[in-house]
Amino acid sequence: MGIAIIYASGMTKHTKEVAEYMARELKADIFNLKQITKINMTDYDTVLFGTGVHAGKPYKPLVQFLEANRDALAGKKTYLFIECMYNDEKGDAQRDKIAEQLGIPDAVYFNTKSDEMNEAGFPAAVDEFIARLRSG
Ligand SMILES: Cc1cc2nc3c(=O)[nH]c(=O)nc-3n(C[C@H](O)[C@H](O)[C@H](O)COP(=O)(O)O)c2cc1C
Repeated sequence: MGIAIIYASGMTKHTKEVAEYMARELKADIFNLKQITKINMTDYDTVLFGTGVHAGKPYKPLVQFLEANRDALAGKKTYLFIECMYNDEKGDAQRDKIAEQLGIPDAVYFNTKSDEMNEAGFPAAVDEFIARLRSG
């Protein structure tokens, strides 16, 4: 059983870039909700959802996808990653709010201009998240 990464990204493509990096590292299938909105979930036991944030809110294509696929996601391990502009307690609060709204409690957020970047140019927190997923 595989991993799916399903994301909604905006003009700056930050979420897209992180999603693509994670897909390479985790050998996951990747779906851009701008291009594809019907995904056969039976192939996956783990699903990672990604979104940027505008005015405190996750992007609509992701909200709509989750609303339409609640039943298909039952029993799967789900995670949320958020691309945002905070790196502090504001980010924590924003993450908690979005995680609750989307019904995905296991949520992390990444600031594209993090203090600590890895060799591939992504926040070190992305690698920590990947390591956690690998360890199950
Ligand atoms: C109009 C606008 C509003 C934004 N509002 C927020 C916000 O409320 N909270 C936040 O953390 N980041 C906010 N951001 C920053 C973006 O969420 C951040 O740059 C993210 O990486 C964008 O991801 P994307 O390139 O995949 O769309 C905003 C950006 C724009 C352009």
